[in-house]
Amino acid sequence: MENSPCQCMEESYQELVKFINQYEGESESLIMVLHKIQETLGFVPVDLQVKVADVLRVPISKVFGVISFYAFFTLKPKGKYHISVCKGTACFVRGASKVLDAIEKKIGLVPGDTTNDGKYSLEIVYCLGACGLSPVMTINKEVHARLTPQRIPEILAEYT
Ligand code: FES
Repeated sequence: MENSPCQCMEESYQELVKFINQYEGESESLIMVLHKIQETLGFVPVDLQVKVADVLRVPISKVFGVISFYAFFTLKPKGKYHISVCKGTACFVRGASKVLDAIEKKIGLVPGDTTNDGKYSLEIVYCLGACGLSPVMTINKEVHARLTPQRIPEILAEYT
């Protein structure tokens, strides 16, 4: 099944099911429970969304609405290389949108998504605390500064 946990996740997954079961009927615990899932697995799988809705007794549409609303939650696991492009004010005025376009074109991905091979995931963030070096992005924990669209292919080539 597409959303079944892989072997390596099985233990965390079973722990999460136990965790969710502690909140039976407690709809007010929805965000906290989703946070726990996101922190543990790095995303919120669809079958756990259904489980949360069922146990906490909230409509599945509400669970999905919360996940869609908060950027913290993701529906897919992050890629081996997680790219965070800053579109905060300083980066935006110095061309972050064009940098983002170049990344999207190069890896065929939109923000919030992960490539099918699990190599790259992409998100937009709003200020990485390095405004003086804008536009900025991080790939995993490495910072890439003073970006231009032209530099994107050469930078991404370091992450294969
Ligand atoms: S606005 Fe991009 S690092 Fe601050």
